[in-house]
Amino acid sequence: MIYLWLKAFHIASVTVWIGGMFVAAIAVAALSASKSLPDAPNRADIIEAVRRWDRWATSPAMLLAWLFGLAVATEGGWFGARWLMMKLVFVVALSGLHGMLSGTLRKLARTAEQPSPASGHALPVIVGAVVVIVLLVVLKPI
Ligand code: HEM
Repeated sequence: MIYLWLKAFHIASVTVWIGGMFVAAIAVAALSASKSLPDAPNRADIIEAVRRWDRWATSPAMLLAWLFGLAVATEGGWFGARWLMMKLVFVVALSGLHGMLSGTLRKLARTAEQPSPASGHALPVIVGAVVVIVLLVVLKPI
């Protein structure tokens, strides 16, 4: 019973975390792609709103997703299962990407410079990682 409660809170936290990553990635992609956005009068407001959401929702949700995920793994005796080890590789990558997006937003808030076009590629990486993670956790093919 406790297992299902932990898993429910795990999935809720993951949803808020990944949703927040999409918000940050779309903001960074838009600021990289658009010629006009760097001079838009409300540019600073947009960056500040995204950064505030990242600080107060996305980052805490990431921490909770980890805590509940590790609790589910402990409670279910999943440590050592290959699907979980493989899943964690992708989860660590997503956590690192979140740090990169936060860093890019921090830099954008300080300077008027545009982010490098490379930061616009975060979106497909997030989609790919989420698909692989869900396939691993639901099908447990390995
Ligand atoms: C942060 C580190 C994470 C750990 C340690 C972790 C661990 C786990 C464990 C042990 C389960 C239980 C599997 C089962 O009952 O069959 C689970 C379920 C689940 N996890 Fe994670 N997870 C993490 C992050 C994520 C992320 C980032 C996502 C999505 C992008 C995710 C999506 C899911 C889903 C959808 C389930 C439910 C699967 C089901 O009930 O069939 N998890 N997780």
